[in-house]
Amino acid sequence: MTKKLYIETVGCQMNMLDSEMVVAALRRQGYELTHSTDDADTLLFNTCSVRQHAEDKTYSALGRLRMAKQENPQKVIGVMGCMAQKDQKTIFHRAPYVDLVVGPGQLHQIPELIEQIRRQPGTQLTALSLDRKGSNVDDIKRSHETFDPLRDPTMRPTPFQAYLRIQIGCDKFCTYCIVPMTRGPEQGRPPAQIIDEARVLADQGCKEITLLGQTVNSYRHEDGGKTTRLSDLLLSLHDIPGLERLKFVTNYPKDMTDDLLQAIRDLPKVSHYLHVPAQSGSDDVLKRMKRGYTVGDYDEMMSRIRETLPEVAVSSDFIVGFCGETEEEFQLTVEMVERHRFKNSFIFKYSERPGTIASKLRPDDVPEDVKKRRNNDLLAVQNRISEEDNQPFLGRKVRILVEGPSKLSVKQQNDSSDLLQLTGRTMCDRIVVFEGNRRLIGELIDVAVVDYTPFTLFGSVVTNHVQGIEPPAPILS
Ligand code: SAH
Ligand code: SF4
Ligand code: F3S
Repeated sequence: MTKKLYIETVGCQMNMLDSEMVVAALRRQGYELTHSTDDADTLLFNTCSVRQHAEDKTYSALGRLRMAKQENPQKVIGVMGCMAQKDQKTIFHRAPYVDLVVGPGQLHQIPELIEQIRRQPGTQLTALSLDRKGSNVDDIKRSHETFDPLRDPTMRPTPFQAYLRIQIGCDKFCTYCIVPMTRGPEQGRPPAQIIDEARVLADQGCKEITLLGQTVNSYRHEDGGKTTRLSDLLLSLHDIPGLERLKFVTNYPKDMTDDLLQAIRDLPKVSHYLHVPAQSGSDDVLKRMKRGYTVGDYDEMMSRIRETLPEVAVSSDFIVGFCGETEEEFQLTVEMVERHRFKNSFIFKYSERPGTIASKLRPDDVPEDVKKRRNNDLLAVQNRISEEDNQPFLGRKVRILVEGPSKLSVKQQNDSSDLLQLTGRTMCDRIVVFEGNRRLIGELIDVAVVDYTPFTLFGSVVTNHVQGIEPPAPILS
């Protein structure tokens, strides 16, 4: 009998990739995916602890399974990922019917652990990484290593796009952030492993690879006196036949070195898009966050980016309402967004995370309604800038990788017709929506931009017969 697996994933791209690996491993054991929790005999939750909200979502999803497990005790329920590492056995106290708690460094053990539970129903198993204190550093590092070689193209959002992890963990210890605790020490994967994996992906028909790391541009690997940096990796990956685009996230401002900017400029397959979270426009707040740079350092980095890569799109993350944030400090963040005109920004209300330095040292003292208002105000500024930023694209031709049906097509379940609304992305990560034939999915094509909103460009496929866009406009990105 085939075994049915239900998996729910929240959190960042690391988690998407981890879920892909776990599903690939379980498929090899004969599992089939299901979208229904009723059908499933194994249910896995890949979790995130970065904000309280992400944890609440998982605990309420688990709460909904209480009855199902009572009626069907043979169902195996597993919690994996960052919240598993952070909460550990607390998960069994809050949801006693959970069978399995597995940290991000132990995901390769999941098939065996599930089998063990099936053999001995009622046992509760944990597999977790070592705490960052109290053990030998090498042992801690090893316990956080991820497993990456299993690649299953059917599990990716599209078979022609893939994530590839180049770095594990984080050593920056920003005071608000839980990630260094859940993902462990920073470790660069060996370049040979990364290149081999990229070749496997290209052989599977993958055209676009996004390299992943919490601070991806801090990537370093030392071997026999030779240091490999992100710029070196990009150069090696660039020649792999079949690959058309290389992206990388997330960047750390302090490590945006000139060799990397020059590699982006000189290597045509490297995306003209940099996600470099600033977090705040106030020096005092950055200090309280222990981000390791000043506003002046960030501004200087932006000038170097704009000088070397005038066409590049830059996006950022901001936290509003961090401990003690005054109205003046918040206004400095608004000014920073105005000054650097990010393509887009992800804005978050500060969420206190137990176990972080900020939670121990500073009260979470900005009231919720103030956080909410600052979030809305900053978003309004950013949205206006995003819209203004999209305006010059009007009437231009852009090259996009067609990713699939647009959100609207998916909602309308437009499965029958060949002509449908599709979506793709430019080299600078702008989303383009257009009408086209299903067979364009996975292709790199040119589209003329006919309209725009802050978040989306609308286009029409460029053929020899397109009216009104004469003479042909230069390809922007
Ligand atoms: N490693 C990446 C991002 C990790 S988490 C980096 O350093 O840029 C993604 C984003 O979540 C962060 O950039 C930050 O803006 C936000 N974030 C992290 N911890 C948070 C917290 N406790 N409350 C609110 N937002 C948080
Ligand atoms: Fe968290 Fe800072 Fe590391 Fe990013 S760099 S994962 S925000 S500790
Ligand atoms: Fe969340 Fe872990 Fe990613 S805490 S943001 S899933 S690294």
